[in-house]
Amino acid sequence: MKDLLKALTPGERDWRIATRLDPKRLPAHIAIIMDGNGRWARQRNYPRIMGHKAGVDPVRTVVETCAQLGLEAVTLYAFSVENWKRPRHEIDGLWRLLRFYLRRELPNLMRNDIQLAAIGRLESLPSGVQDELQSVMRSTAQNRGMRLNLAINYSGRTELVDAVNAILENARLEGDLESLDITEETISSHLYTAGLKDPDLLIRTSGEMRISNFLLWQIAYAELYVTDTLWPDFTRTHLLEAVFEYQNRDRRFGGITRACPSSAEASLLIEEDALELPLA
Ligand code: FPP
Repeated sequence: MKDLLKALTPGERDWRIATRLDPKRLPAHIAIIMDGNGRWARQRNYPRIMGHKAGVDPVRTVVETCAQLGLEAVTLYAFSVENWKRPRHEIDGLWRLLRFYLRRELPNLMRNDIQLAAIGRLESLPSGVQDELQSVMRSTAQNRGMRLNLAINYSGRTELVDAVNAILENARLEGDLESLDITEETISSHLYTAGLKDPDLLIRTSGEMRISNFLLWQIAYAELYVTDTLWPDFTRTHLLEAVFEYQNRDRRFGGITRACPSSAEASLLIEEDALELPLA
């Protein structure tokens, strides 16, 4: 948080939002579905790839701002398993952009102490993309400030399938398949995000009310924030506004924030047949 305030000019809009944030209640992990690149391009009569190209700078801004806020992790949905259905030239363009981003951003990742990880079925990516990812992951492996996960060839369902298969394989190797007892912790620790806190906040741009197979297990209790802003138009201000709104949500994790004064007594009065009554 201190780093962000240092990077801002006192009085400017982002500074004013940042100073209203509670540094003790920042999300530890933000996940983002970066959507709307195609619509951004269509609005301008550009080819779709121009929308993706315009989506690279917001990636840089969001990553740097999250690091300056002091978050533990950011996970960006860059390419889903379903995205292979797109035209070949669009997919090839996305790989070129990703390689361009990785090459250009390495100095920034180092300067901001960010460790890069890629999550998804990476073995199906073109070898040039795999090499570039491996190289940046190696170079940033010792960074301890923030973890940046790029979800590439990612699907929440295949992640769960991979986790279950890994659990079974380990049990087979250890010879304790018979006594295997799977808990939530077993599954969490075999996901691509093992060791990271689950996202507290899931942002989706461009207004669609969908999860699109993203981090299905991990977002169980995430706050959802959907904005109509298209990804290429997403700025630091939008990100800070999302965090501000997150801090104004009442996160109950299935519990209650505080009981109404009379609710303890009221529960004693509820007879079994009274449960038929519509409970307000
Ligand atoms: C969804 O928009 C976006 C993607 C499938 C790709 C996201 C890629 C980038 C933001 C660019 C580069 C990424 C990195 C990590 C450097 P869409 O094409 O589905 O948009 P639409 O719904 O408006 O058609």
